[in-house]
Amino acid sequence: MRIDVITIFPDMVRAGLGYSIVKRAQEAGHVRVAVHDLRDHAPGKHRATDDSPYGGGAGMVMLPGPLFQAVESLDPVPEARIILLTPQGETFSQAKARELSEAPHLVLLCGHYEGFDERVRRHLATDEISIGDYVLTGGELPALVIADAVTRLLPGVLGNAESAEADTFTDGLLEYPHYTRPLDFRGWRVPDVLLSGHHAEIAKWRRKEQLRRTRERRPDLWAEFVPSKSDQKLLAQLAEEESEENP
Ligand SMILES: C[S@@+](CC[C@H](N)C(=O)[O-])C[C@H]1O[C@@H](n2cnc3c(N)ncnc32)[C@H](O)[C@@H]1O
Repeated sequence: MRIDVITIFPDMVRAGLGYSIVKRAQEAGHVRVAVHDLRDHAPGKHRATDDSPYGGGAGMVMLPGPLFQAVESLDPVPEARIILLTPQGETFSQAKARELSEAPHLVLLCGHYEGFDERVRRHLATDEISIGDYVLTGGELPALVIADAVTRLLPGVLGNAESAEADTFTDGLLEYPHYTRPLDFRGWRVPDVLLSGHHAEIAKWRRKEQLRRTRERRPDLWAEFVPSKSDQKLLAQLAEEESEENP
């Protein structure tokens, strides 16, 4: 996979890509990430990347010329996803990360000020993505969020192939709780079942916790979730346990 980020603050993006799993994935050749300074494609002595809006009003707008030139200079493959980062886009999700991880090439366009000239959205971008319903000063943090979430899904990137499988959202449920040493921390003990060595019981407990957590915390996910036969059994057990706890 190839990821190109186009930004007026390349150092900010490079810094965020230089750690942990994303760094290792680049070193191992699973992903090739390049960060490009939009100003290298900006005209004139001042290398301006923005100008005032037609029609008047506050704020500046990102010029289309440098953005088109920057993308064209990358010679993207026809299947490349040219992603405009904008709070007006489709909300980013684990499903979207999974979908993007199957593309050969992502180009992430970071906006600033009032955002992009509309022609960039209409004639250059293939996708518009928002990382949530809030407005940031620029697209650099969203680009890092997307590059990170996509990279960890690429084949071979996570050491243990199961880690991404069990992750929250992967099968429409939140992940189960984790415990590590010590066994007793300030009087709070690790649940006995996790010490039993009984793999089937541990798996059952974890699945039950996933169901319980998702039902309690995320009614939106719960409404979409279709429990399997074995999930239905676990839900019946949960209901029994709960009625014993609160008779
Ligand atoms: C201040 S914002 C522009 C907001 C724009 N005036 C609007 O209301 O839609 C500047 C840039 O930050 C980025 N940005 C801000 N919030 C974002 C979000 N939630 N998701 C993705 N990108 C965002 C975009 O690249 C945007 O062009």
